[in-house]
Amino acid sequence: VPLQLSNTFGIVAKALSLVRVAGEADIREVLADPALRAMPKFVLGGGSNIVLTGDVKPLVLKVEIMGKRLASETAKAWIVEAGAGESWHDLVTWTLQSGYPGLENLALIPGTVGASPVQNIGAYGVELQDRFESLDAVDLTTGQGFTLNAAQCAFGYRDSVFKHKSSAGDTAAGAGNPGFGLADKALITRVRFALPKNWKPVLGYADIEKKMAQSSPQPASGAPSALQIYEWICEIRRAKLPDPQVIGNAGSFFKNPTVTPEQCADIIQREPKIVHYPMDDGSIKLAAGWLIDACGWKGKSIGNAGVYERQALVLVNRGGKADPVTGGEVMTLAKAIQTSVYERFGIMLEHEPVVV
Ligand code: EPU
Repeated sequence: VPLQLSNTFGIVAKALSLVRVAGEADIREVLADPALRAMPKFVLGGGSNIVLTGDVKPLVLKVEIMGKRLASETAKAWIVEAGAGESWHDLVTWTLQSGYPGLENLALIPGTVGASPVQNIGAYGVELQDRFESLDAVDLTTGQGFTLNAAQCAFGYRDSVFKHKSSAGDTAAGAGNPGFGLADKALITRVRFALPKNWKPVLGYADIEKKMAQSSPQPASGAPSALQIYEWICEIRRAKLPDPQVIGNAGSFFKNPTVTPEQCADIIQREPKIVHYPMDDGSIKLAAGWLIDACGWKGKSIGNAGVYERQALVLVNRGGKADPVTGGEVMTLAKAIQTSVYERFGIMLEHEPVVV
């Protein structure tokens, strides 16, 4: 099965075998088949956070579980549930139109609902974990369904239990234990979000503050509405991030690294302009886009893999659909960037997408 349209880089590769999963019954059917059951599995959502470096040999489970609804409510929150195969941005739009604010800062992030907890998506001061209630998943070894709360998902910056490899004996029952991993061992079927009834805007990001200052008339209440923030975020992202439908990419290619205050002070002596933010835990976050930009990579290419002109943290497919970038070219460019950032700043950037 061709995968060019199933990954946002637009890389050409095939799945040697693929099953579309519209519900739990499809997974049970796979596990009832001895040949399919024995195969290693790869769970594919919107393909917005992967680099395909060749044909995919594991059995690809393409998640197409749909549906979004208000599942319940508590005194403090609306609990909204969505199928893992729903488009993330469509869910954000639907919640706002339905009167459940809280996801507006996460508008226009490519990918599916099922992928959102895997990498704990985040933007403009909100991370998925801030709005997460629980998720349902199926253990791909036993076929058993299970539910995880936020603690069991072990969320971190662009990280969760679903990005970590498991040791052989791990079963879903161990979720929450240190060192536990569910990568390729579980398929997320549904995700529930707790959207605050006492909603407050999350502002503070320079790009949003700029939009606030420009907006006229100023909102009477002093604070913008969730729908207003949603529109600003869409404008900000459209201005600086490439639309994967037009230019293939996988969003930020590297994570923003963190350093100790001592390391940061040392770098500032040599590089006074470095963009850095103090974190709640005392560490300092550096802007990887700035580091890459400072090394002169913005707008550069290796083969058909390029560094986006308006945001150096995003690697793009310069060959379009006709002559698409290869996963090898993307990784060659990524390694060249890592080497030059390391040589100048002494910092090893960690890539964010999953390399398949
Ligand atoms: N910068 C440069 N040159 C560049 C790019 C950035 O100097 O080419 C500087 C900017 O001027 C700014 C700083 O770096 O001072 C940070 O840039 P930006 O505000 O664009 O945010 P980011 O740290 O590069 C992160 C997320 C994005 C998210 C934005 C907004 C990661 C890896 N990326 O980017 O997430 O949208 O903040 O919250 O944390 C994604 O994960 O795919 C993604 C787009």
